[in-house]
Amino acid sequence: MKKTLMIAATAAFMMTGLAATEATAGGLTSKCKACHSFNKNKMGPSFKNIQAAYGDAATLAKVWESGFAPADRHIAGDENNANYKKYHKKAKIMTAQYKRLIKKNVEKGKFTYLELANEVFSK
Ligand code: HEC
Repeated sequence: MKKTLMIAATAAFMMTGLAATEATAGGLTSKCKACHSFNKNKMGPSFKNIQAAYGDAATLAKVWESGFAPADRHIAGDENNANYKKYHKKAKIMTAQYKRLIKKNVEKGKFTYLELANEVFSK
């Protein structure tokens, strides 16, 4: 009996996860594209340069999760990064976007930091 309940609960959980992923797949970074493109630095650094600076999605997700302080950022907070000069003075612009487009939606349960980071790393 217990086992049957567990299986039912697991199946329900997996279906919810799937529905959530389907609803948001491909759309998580659509608003980011106002300032970011894949391989060209625009208002914000390219996703390609972001990938190079963070190495993997889990690392980026962790920095978001811990509050995304400018000093913790791998571009705007790292003097050794090739794009540091171009972007460290623009950190405030991204802080506002982080609060509005990222943190708020994660708190609402729309997506996780890791799901968003995976999309930044998906190309
Ligand atoms: C209004 C313009 C704007 C929007 C919209 C925007 N960004 Fe940014 N982003 C910037 C700017 C400017 C920087 C450079 C400053 C910085 O690096 O903190 C930046 C930097 C970044 C960085 C690198 C941070 C670092 O320094 O290591 C990441 C990652 C990032 N943005 C992700 C996103 C994602 C994901 C979205 C969409 C959910 C998004 N941005 C939406 C302007 C924007």
